[in-house]
Amino acid sequence: MRAAITGIGGYVPDYILTNDELSRMVDTNDDWIMTRIGIKERRILKEKEKGSSDLGVEAVKELLAKTNTTPDEIDFLICATVTPDMQFPATANIISDKAGIKNAFSFDLNAGCSGFLYALNTAAKYIESGTHKKVIVIGAEKMSSIVDYTDRSTCPIFGDGAGAVLLEPTNDDTGIIDTITQVDGMGRKHLHQKAGGSLKPASHETVDAREHFIYQEGQPVFKYAVSNMADASVKMMKRHNIAPEELAWLVPHQANMRIIEATARRMGINREQVMINIQRYGNTTAATLPLCLWEWEKQLNKGDNLILATFGAGFTWGSMYVKWSYDG
Ligand code: UT7
Repeated sequence: MRAAITGIGGYVPDYILTNDELSRMVDTNDDWIMTRIGIKERRILKEKEKGSSDLGVEAVKELLAKTNTTPDEIDFLICATVTPDMQFPATANIISDKAGIKNAFSFDLNAGCSGFLYALNTAAKYIESGTHKKVIVIGAEKMSSIVDYTDRSTCPIFGDGAGAVLLEPTNDDTGIIDTITQVDGMGRKHLHQKAGGSLKPASHETVDAREHFIYQEGQPVFKYAVSNMADASVKMMKRHNIAPEELAWLVPHQANMRIIEATARRMGINREQVMINIQRYGNTTAATLPLCLWEWEKQLNKGDNLILATFGAGFTWGSMYVKWSYDG
C-alpha cells in the first residue's frame, strides 16, 4: 500500500509587496533582485492579529471542499513551519481547531524549507502502515513576521503563504514511491534565528540587536543548496532509471531562480519541465512545494513522474519521487 496525494489546497494573502516598494524601504532595486534572485513580488499577511495558522486554515478549507472531505474524516494532520503562531501549542493543533478537525492528532514539524517534504514523508509512513487513512500535510509560513525589513540581503527573498495536500492509501502503482532526506546540522551557523529559543530567550538586548529576525550568510547557503538539491534529485533519477524526458515535472524549492536552474541543468531537463512561481511568491519556506502543486494541479495527469526537491535551514535537504495519482 502506498500513500497518494489526492487533493491540493492553497492560499496566499492579498497584499503584494513589489520590488519597487522594497526599493523605497532599503537600498535595492528591481534589476538586482531579478538578476540575483528572480523575484518580482511576494505576498504579505498584513493583518497584525493573524498568524501562520490563518494562512494554513484557508488552504485546508479549500482542500476539504475540493476533495468532498468532512473535517471529521481527517485522522492525522502535520503542519511544517518555521513561523508557528506561538512556541506552543503547535500551529497544527490551532489549524485543526479552526478547521473543525476533531478526530485527529496533529503536530508541527520544523525542517526549515525542507519541512513540507519531510512532513509528507512522515505522513506517508502512517498511511503505508495502515493505521491512518486521511492525512493532511500543510506548509504554512508568515515569513514576514521574522524578516528584517531593514536588511537588504534578506528582505527581498521571503514571502507569506500556505499549501496543503490530502494523503490517502492507494493500491495502484501511483503515489509516493521513494524519498531521500538528509541533514547536516553544521550548516546551522549560516542560516538561523539567533534569539527567542531556549538558548537565548527574548530580552531587551536581543530585541535591540535585531536577533529575532532571519540571519543568513547567502553565499555558503547558495553553494550548499545548489550541490545538495541537485545531488539528491539526480540520485533519485538514477535510482529509478528515470530518463530526463520521462520526468513530467521537477517541483523544486523556490529559494533562488539560479538554484532552480542549476538543479534542472544537472538533471538534464528543460525549463518547461520545472514548476517555477518564485517570481510571484518569493521564498515561502515550507509552503513553496505545495504552492507549486496547487498552481499546476490542472496540468497534472495520472501516472506523471514528479520529483520534489528541497534544501533549507539545518541544513536539511532531500528529494521525493511521486507518481501522480489523478488527472488535474
Ligand atoms: O530557502 C532557504 C535557503 N536559502 C537560500 O537558498 C538562499 C541562498 N542564497 C542566495 O540566494 C543568495 O546568496 C542571495 C540572494 C541571498 C544573495 O545573492 P548573492 O549573489 O550571493 O549576493 P552577495 O550576498 O554575494 O552580495 C553581492 C553584492 C554585495 O555588495 P558588494 O559587497 O559586492 O559591494 C551586497 O552588499 O550585492 C549586495 N547586495 C545587494 N544589492 C542590492 C546584497 N543584497 C542586495 C540587495 N540589493 N537587495
